[in-house]
Amino acid sequence: MSVLAQSRRYLVGGVNSPVRAFRAVKAQPVLLADGRGATVRDVQGRRYVDFIMGWGALLLGHAHPAVRAAAQRRLRAGWHLGLTHVTESALARAISEALPGVDRVRFTPSGTEAVMVAVRLARGATRRKRLLTFEGCYHGHSDGVLVKRGSGLATLGLSASAGVLEEASRQTVVVPYNDPQAVERAFTAYGDTIAAVLVEPVAANMGLVQPDRAWLKRVRALAARHGSVLIFDEVVTGFRLAYGGAQTMFGVRPDLTVLGKIIGGGFPIGAVAGPARLMDQLAPEGPVYHAGTFAGHPMAMAAGVATLTELRRRPPYQRLERQGTRLARGLAEAAESAGLRAQVHQLGSMLTLFCSGQPITKFSDAQRADRRAFAALANAFRSRGVLLPPSQFETMFLSTAHGPSHLDRALAAARQACRAAAKMTTRSQP
Ligand SMILES: Cc1ncc(COP(=O)(O)O)c(C=O)c1O
Repeated sequence: MSVLAQSRRYLVGGVNSPVRAFRAVKAQPVLLADGRGATVRDVQGRRYVDFIMGWGALLLGHAHPAVRAAAQRRLRAGWHLGLTHVTESALARAISEALPGVDRVRFTPSGTEAVMVAVRLARGATRRKRLLTFEGCYHGHSDGVLVKRGSGLATLGLSASAGVLEEASRQTVVVPYNDPQAVERAFTAYGDTIAAVLVEPVAANMGLVQPDRAWLKRVRALAARHGSVLIFDEVVTGFRLAYGGAQTMFGVRPDLTVLGKIIGGGFPIGAVAGPARLMDQLAPEGPVYHAGTFAGHPMAMAAGVATLTELRRRPPYQRLERQGTRLARGLAEAAESAGLRAQVHQLGSMLTLFCSGQPITKFSDAQRADRRAFAALANAFRSRGVLLPPSQFETMFLSTAHGPSHLDRALAAARQACRAAAKMTTRSQP
């Protein structure tokens, strides 16, 4: 049985996470064998320039030597200890020193769980029920955040997945991103029942959409005025946009921060970080329960400390911004010369090429992008050895391992890929 046939036979849809199935671009899953620096190799031996980068977890690239050395040291000393070990507080301290107002950190094995803990903590601390979220943001796959918008501007959510009880989503209010009036209306309607406002301060899960700073400040002010806990989900943006995340880049401080991805150096991780007054509500100090066999896993802690140490020693952010700008400009030029209606959103090492000529500031705008054109684009890139996230609603990630030659290769492929996508839009015109 081939490996592809084996994964189709034994894994649901051939994958362990749906976007890896490549169905959004009507293609087959890519089966990878290994990753090195800015590239990955598939089981047939084809090497790709990788812009998925472990869905944003690998800011230092694949198999970074310092991270690998830390993980190997950990392996030799035992990889799962079961009681508290010294690297947990070392990573917590590094996070506390990076983010303003963070006294304590609680680690989980995934971003999903960290969001669950943060929301439970906010509900426990405020003794309120409701959660205010934003359309197009993603916060993992727990019941209360798997909610889609119903009709109206500030509606109680409807479940976006079979198996999520109406009771679980009923407490979640969903409003459009970047829309100050919608947040005002939600607070007017539900103000004193909103336990937490949960937001991606830079949205990465409807494609990359930047926040309007004034809107983000308004959200901050309204949460404070109504006594709601403002939670920034920086699972993607933490340590990526700046060492202190989107909150230092935009100068807006949340009450709690959820982290993941980069802080584990590519090992499974999530974290909730915040001031002692909130964090000490968690068990064993307080009444809000959270526990986990693999919480604070030594491998993730060691890889995380090595990653943050590297980022502190050699801050890559200016270089990533330059690389990001170069890639964005090149992609935009390729689209224009191919006659493809498109725009590139870019911030630091995050980018999305939207197949749309209209401004995109919220999810309903992103949804108007031409997904058939995007599919043609992503597939054409892949056939030329460049791996883009296989959905219009994901973000491309650069790493410190991407150098000029990787960008050259991507931009050489871009011209032909944009032509393929432009043909698709021409064909889909009435
Ligand atoms: C912003 C955001 N929050 C939470 C999560 C969930 O993290 P995990 O996949 O580690 O459970 C993700 C995953 O991509 C994410 O992008």
